[in-house]
Amino acid sequence: MAGTLDQLQEKIASAKNALQKSASNVAELEKQFLAKHGTVNTLMAELKTLAPELRKEAGQLLNAFRQEVEHVVAGAKTSPARAGWTDFTMPGIKPNTDHVHPVSQAMDEITRIFERIGFIRVRYPEVDWEWYPFDSLNMPKDHPARDEWETFVIDDPFRHFKLGKMVLTPHTSNGQVREMERLKSTPPIRMINIARCYRRQADVTHTEMFHQFEGLVVDKGITIQHLKGTIDHFAREFYGPKAKSRIRPFHFMFTEPSFEVDFSCTICDGTGRVNGEKCRFCKSGWHEVGGAGMVHPNVLKAGNIDPEKYTGFAFGWGIERTYTLRKGLKLDDIRLLYSGDMRFLEQF
Ligand code: PHE
Repeated sequence: MAGTLDQLQEKIASAKNALQKSASNVAELEKQFLAKHGTVNTLMAELKTLAPELRKEAGQLLNAFRQEVEHVVAGAKTSPARAGWTDFTMPGIKPNTDHVHPVSQAMDEITRIFERIGFIRVRYPEVDWEWYPFDSLNMPKDHPARDEWETFVIDDPFRHFKLGKMVLTPHTSNGQVREMERLKSTPPIRMINIARCYRRQADVTHTEMFHQFEGLVVDKGITIQHLKGTIDHFAREFYGPKAKSRIRPFHFMFTEPSFEVDFSCTICDGTGRVNGEKCRFCKSGWHEVGGAGMVHPNVLKAGNIDPEKYTGFAFGWGIERTYTLRKGLKLDDIRLLYSGDMRFLEQF
């Protein structure tokens, strides 16, 4: 028997009633109305049972009904209060808040450690005339020691007759004589210079760009004890109360005597052993971090300071290495620090 429009309208009306009842439950709505055998499809199928001249109007009614169902379902999906049962005490999804890059974190901490004992943080140019990173530091033009600081030279239209070529400074020691000049060659000087440095070397343990921090103290009566005390202070503050430092004889053109500085290993506390086995992080209990020494008289002279009246010490080493040692981190590839890879950086 062919159906009538009235019958169809009745069915649609009762379906609308049911729609209002479960209007906030998305799963139920989808099952009851939109699924393959749901109300919408079932009613649509009835079109075929109608006389052809009724089908146009019936189709319009059914389409309007389908749109209403879809509208209600969409509303239920976007409104949490209507999406069935909602637990408002559930912790929210934590938004991805960024943090300071590990190297910047280390720089801030290092600055604070030295500021507490009277050092002043400065920054000197990363692009500098070679006088500052080399000649002023007692390294004559052709001295082979300069090769150790494999340096990028810049095409320089303003080549300075006295100060030489422009370079990307390969160490923060370029700040030594600059600081003496800033203070008009009048000690006391207590400088902490943190800056980027550049060397022509890139492999798993080196990046062409890295960071160093440089300490310089010049005053009357400054001795190696002050140097050692300052380094010990840093070791304890940065690596913890058990950390120790040691200095070993070395050679730099700009310090005399010169030392290499080691810190005790943070994994085995300097013993070289973990649970009776050789510490795998350090092997010997110590890590070499950088250089230090008593400021060479020629460097004081380059800064117009009388080496007969004043003495000083200087030290300098890499931030990246200093930082990863604290974490007991053996980075397979130090270049990861500058890769911008969030999977790596988010760990710090
Ligand atoms: N500038 C030296 C380097 O980069 C380290 C150093 C700094 C040594 C200060 C002595 C004094 O290797």
